[in-house]
Amino acid sequence: MKIAVLPGDGIGPEVTREALKVLDALALPQLTLFEGDVGGIAYKRHGHPLPAETLEMARAADAVLFGAVGDPECDTLPREYRPEQAILGLRSELGLFANLRPAAGFPGLEDLSPLKPELARGIDLLVVRELNGDVYFGDKGERDSAGGREGWDDMSYNEAEVRRIAHSAFRAAQKRRKKLTSVDKANVLETSRIWRETVIELAGEYPDVELDHMYVDNAAMQLVRSPGQFDVIVTGNLFGDILSDQASACVGSIGLLASASLGERTTEFGTFGLYEPIHGSAPDIAGQGKANPVAAILSLAMLLRHSLGRDADANRIERAVAASLSSEIRGADLGGSASTQEIGDAILRHLQAIA
Ligand code: NAI
Ligand code: MG
Repeated sequence: MKIAVLPGDGIGPEVTREALKVLDALALPQLTLFEGDVGGIAYKRHGHPLPAETLEMARAADAVLFGAVGDPECDTLPREYRPEQAILGLRSELGLFANLRPAAGFPGLEDLSPLKPELARGIDLLVVRELNGDVYFGDKGERDSAGGREGWDDMSYNEAEVRRIAHSAFRAAQKRRKKLTSVDKANVLETSRIWRETVIELAGEYPDVELDHMYVDNAAMQLVRSPGQFDVIVTGNLFGDILSDQASACVGSIGLLASASLGERTTEFGTFGLYEPIHGSAPDIAGQGKANPVAAILSLAMLLRHSLGRDADANRIERAVAASLSSEIRGADLGGSASTQEIGDAILRHLQAIA
């Protein structure tokens, strides 16, 4: 088992260190870790945010554990040298088209949610966002028009692209509460009409999953009015970007949520993937020991489950995190005063107690 560890910038290395402590405690047999530079640190050391050797290391591994990229000192660089290009490059170079973002209410933390506690408590959903297509990757440009300069972005999805993300979502639903909501705007968009028809065609292969469809504007409203109705949501790149941020905000702190980006490639143990917290490099708190490492530790749990086939270890980590969160050890983002390291240590203690 090979894991490429790419800590990146800002709080990336701080939270990744705690995830590695947890990984170490699991004492997995035949595990090899490789560590590479990515983001601003890679630009400073190698002249590029995604050096060829880092990409090769990621390709050769069974999974990638990613911290975060982003460095204010690099903000004035030309676009191709900016740290954020590294994560976009990894996603496209590694063919990672399915972004999985679980959002679930944590017991005892309901008061952090902007929603009423009883609504926050009911959240247990997974957003499956298509990551390699849609308006972000279509032809785009600027042209003259009667109204002055006009920007345009092509939005397109073909059946093959919809099919592969829909398969991922149906399979994810089978492992959960077997309910899938496909989100589109089929009343006005051609891409969405193809999307919806393709998802419906596939549904026959998953008779155990209950499928429904929702327009994106209604989905945004339903997410705050009754989030408990959702199990798995599958949607395109643009709608998924917005809805997954909205879903995570409903749960509480950004320091708690993990994500997986998966492709078609399988490994000896599962599906190849890249795992990262949903937060960025948080330059405002970097180097102060204030970062919450929970998102990074939960990203490790997702890695163990999806890429290494170690469900029992993943469950153990998630239980340890839940136990630690409901104890008094909390970071500044949750109104406490525990440091990054203290939170990691507390989770480790709970993990050992669960063993
Ligand atoms: P951010 O997620 O880094 O920070 C937003 C706010 O949340 C900040 O106040 C930060 O202190 C807080 N925060 C984030 N993670 C936290 C944690 N684990 N514990 C406690 N507090 C936490 O987003 P922001 O400020 O918009 O971006 C900072 C940099 O990160 C930018 O360069 C941005 O491009 C990059 N970024 C990178 C991502 C990635 O690597 N995948 C994703 C999002 C942003
Ligand atoms: Mg976003």
